[in-house]
Amino acid sequence: MEFIRPSIQAALAKKDFDQAADIAEQRLGLSSLEAHGAAHMAPYMPKPMQDIGTDMHRAASRFARTAQEAAVKGDMSPVFAGLAGVLRQCVACHTTDGTPKIGPTFKGVFGKKETVIHEGKEREITVDEAFIKQTLLHPEIDRVKGFPPLMPSQQGQLTDAEIHEIIEYIKSLK
Ligand code: HEC
Repeated sequence: MEFIRPSIQAALAKKDFDQAADIAEQRLGLSSLEAHGAAHMAPYMPKPMQDIGTDMHRAASRFARTAQEAAVKGDMSPVFAGLAGVLRQCVACHTTDGTPKIGPTFKGVFGKKETVIHEGKEREITVDEAFIKQTLLHPEIDRVKGFPPLMPSQQGQLTDAEIHEIIEYIKSLK
């Protein structure tokens, strides 16, 4: 999916949500299934491959819709949420509106000083890029105090680019 990002992100940077939505929809969305004959090929693909293809197309269609909604509302955050698709699973445990859920809220967390449990002892950290990256890959090193130790490791699940996007997204939630 990397190859579509530059143009979508360029469009997003210009706040041209309609264009970003169009690119996503045309290149990857459900309407492109027909355009590149994937629907015709599908019966010959193994089932898991078909599922991956369909999931990717659905994610892109969802992104296109989210970008269009954002264009209407003039709000960036739903765009980020749709962009990676990965944040979908995070919001099972994290909110973006300041309310704690199973884990701490993302809102205002960047730059915050907090107490974590490190090898059974408390210590103070500041939530910065390095801490978020560590939490995503090795949550067991520092568990945020006051929450159950449930943050799942995302190692092998996220690319470096996605980790970077997640960090930028969390930063944007002031
Ligand atoms: C099953 C629930 C669950 C899921 C899914 C989950 N987290 Fe967490 N997360 C937690 C909990 C609980 C904590 C705090 C305790 C800990 O550190 O384990 C936490 C901590 C964090 C922190 C540190 C917050 C702070 O206050 O310092 C970040 C950042 C974070 N998660 C990001 C993510 C991202 C991004 C995703 C999706 C890729 C995600 N989490 C998915 C439960 C979850």
